[in-house]
Amino acid sequence: MKDRIDLLKSSFEEKLLSAGGKDDLEAIRIEYLGKKGHVASLMAGLRDAADKKTAGMLINIFKNEVEGAITKRQEELRQAELEAKIRSAKKYNPSLRFERELGSYHPITLATREVEEAFRTMGFTIEDYSEVVTDYECFESLNIPKHHPARDMQDTYYLDNGQLLKTQTSAAQNAIMKKYGAPLRAIFPGRCFRNESTDACHENTFFQMEGMMIDEDISISNLIYFMKTMLSEVFKRDIKVRLRPGFFPFVEPGFELDISCLICGGEGCPSCKGEGWLELCPCGMIHPNVLREGGIDTDKYTGFAFGLGLTRLAMMKYGIKDIRDFNSGDLKALSQFKSI
Ligand code: DAH
Repeated sequence: MKDRIDLLKSSFEEKLLSAGGKDDLEAIRIEYLGKKGHVASLMAGLRDAADKKTAGMLINIFKNEVEGAITKRQEELRQAELEAKIRSAKKYNPSLRFERELGSYHPITLATREVEEAFRTMGFTIEDYSEVVTDYECFESLNIPKHHPARDMQDTYYLDNGQLLKTQTSAAQNAIMKKYGAPLRAIFPGRCFRNESTDACHENTFFQMEGMMIDEDISISNLIYFMKTMLSEVFKRDIKVRLRPGFFPFVEPGFELDISCLICGGEGCPSCKGEGWLELCPCGMIHPNVLREGGIDTDKYTGFAFGLGLTRLAMMKYGIKDIRDFNSGDLKALSQFKSI
């Protein structure tokens, strides 16, 4: 029996050494410890052995050795596999450079900030206002009663509760007058909505920058001065402005403020249709009804207001031809502003 076991032992050791992986080990285990394996057949031969007790002991020792050796080899193989994995894994390299796509500010954000900065230095506060407003805020407080024809220009989106998406930043005028009283200098940029069919010049969603200055002895000269200064800051050159009469129920008198064409400087070119002027900002002296509605003493104070088309300004400043590019989410169009 001992010789048989010794023979099996040496063949087992050889096989174990050459086992390259888990599958080889399993095959060896079955060959030696399986139901029909060598250890089982040794046991079967025990019946005829002369010295059953010693032979049985030897078989048991052999069986334990085989089991122990297989478990040990299993562990060694597992360890080696792990080390190989770690070795082949990419190491952290702090000097590696990753190309990362950086985002960019939206051109409207850039234009807003420039206008805000120009007005801030002239003592204006910057106000934020809700996009959902009441009929009173958007129209009635602005001297536009129900059924006034001026409402036709500003069809918008109504909520079930009667509120609406503001059509103009002027909708904040009343609340801001009530909040601060006079004297007051404020600008309030905002997103506006109108029920419009869209084309290169019209969008249902666009931005305006409203401004108001209320104090004693405010006149149109103040309005012209502030607008000219702000526009020269934003466009980084001297901008000529002119006023034409315009009608808006909340100002009297009301104007359209034009700026000298940015392309030809006023000579006349295709961009300004040969006029030399571009329409930019409706404005006027705040109507006494609107001042009164805001709680301002009209015997003492007057004021101007303007509703700068921020989207239009951004189109002019950055040479954007189609207003729909702003809301398109088209990164090819918008990412051009990365370096600005
Ligand atoms: N809210 C007007 C509009 O969207 C623009 C406007 C005109 C604003 C005259 C003003 C103003 O503040 O004085 O059509």
